[in-house]
Amino acid sequence: MRLSLRLYLLAMAAPAAAVAMLLLRLPSHTQADPILAAVLVGLGAIAANFPVMVTKSYKADATPAIELAIVVVFPPAAAVALIGLSRLIGEGALCIRRNPATGTRRRIPIDLVFNAGQLMVAAAAGAVIFQGVAAAMRDADGAGLFLAATAAAVAMYVVNTTLVVVAAALNTQRSPFQVWAEAAGVDLKQTAALYSAGYLLAVISGDHPWLALVMMAPLAGLQLSLKRAVQMREQTLAAVESMADVVDRRDPYTFQHSQSVASHSVRIARQMHLPEREVELIRLAARVHDLGKIAVPDQVLHKHGRLTDEEFALMKMHPETGAEILAKFPEYRQGRELVLAHHERIDGRGYPRGLSGTAIPLGARIMAVADAWDAMTSDRPYRAALEQSVALAELMRGRGTQWDAEAVDAFAATLPGAVLEPARHTGIAAPVLRSLGAVAGILSS
Ligand SMILES: [Fe+2]
Repeated sequence: MRLSLRLYLLAMAAPAAAVAMLLLRLPSHTQADPILAAVLVGLGAIAANFPVMVTKSYKADATPAIELAIVVVFPPAAAVALIGLSRLIGEGALCIRRNPATGTRRRIPIDLVFNAGQLMVAAAAGAVIFQGVAAAMRDADGAGLFLAATAAAVAMYVVNTTLVVVAAALNTQRSPFQVWAEAAGVDLKQTAALYSAGYLLAVISGDHPWLALVMMAPLAGLQLSLKRAVQMREQTLAAVESMADVVDRRDPYTFQHSQSVASHSVRIARQMHLPEREVELIRLAARVHDLGKIAVPDQVLHKHGRLTDEEFALMKMHPETGAEILAKFPEYRQGRELVLAHHERIDGRGYPRGLSGTAIPLGARIMAVADAWDAMTSDRPYRAALEQSVALAELMRGRGTQWDAEAVDAFAATLPGAVLEPARHTGIAAPVLRSLGAVAGILSS
């Protein structure tokens, strides 16, 4: 782990302790109910132990709901202390538990310091804003409380996300703004739903602490539905990719072609410094780019000689057929555009639509380079695999006419022997664990 990151994570304990001390000086008009405090601390600790892997680099759990409830129900100093305590217990359990798949601990102690610390800082911001808005809107009754809770939720989300994004950016050497945009794109809706549940939890349990336990059911339901949605998405992707692999296997010469094209495409996209979300979109599309060949008859697909005009016309339908099949799966809503355009050419002489230049989506331009490279460097019934130098010379020949110049250059830069720019991305970023719009177990994978 980088020293700068380690220092940043450990240093989070200092502002957490400072805000807790400062808040103790604030006058408090409400009494802390010890039973409700114990219930919410326990719920928060349990929720922290059941995260859902939403994407490869993002995990979410239900703790945002419980943290907002604590901020709404308790005075600021108590709220910050309770949230810190809940996280320490939850993360402490994660430090002991092992991941059955890898055998490693789910958290290391430095995660515990950072996660508890940054959540306390975010809770302090939320609590102060909540008290301020609630006091200013004293006459507005229920509406004032709702507005104050909304403002507190926004403050907690912003502080939480900022602190986590800085850690993730230090960890991956990427721009914090890019990490922020990716994280927000994934978790904003779920976080909003969890905050709404948290407000409800606060309203219900304020007078009747034990009712907080009843709220476990909808919270668990939210968590479960998120898990099911993630599983469903994974199963869909796996099924469609298996179909694409079956198409590859129909021809012994194209065995694993889609996997190779996906891996080359990812290398090009990373070399071009595309955001990780876009890299993943391109990888998914590249994995299934020739799916439409499922409708091309064997005698055409396996033909060794030159295709007749009719046969070539049949072959040229595969991008559209592939996009049509993918239209049935919401997971490929964006990717199908790339599949449809993967045989377009920069000079407009490609198919099916004859698009040219930047009218062709960037992901499709990248896939076209990867596709051509894999085709040229693999054996074919009518020729042996080309030498890498010959294939590269061919790519250079069509640079700017057949293929996108920038994508060709990026690909060339990734080849062995090329002078590489230092990689900004080191593979998939380790999971950024967020709760309440953030929180992180960046170091735990
Ligand atoms: Fe194709």
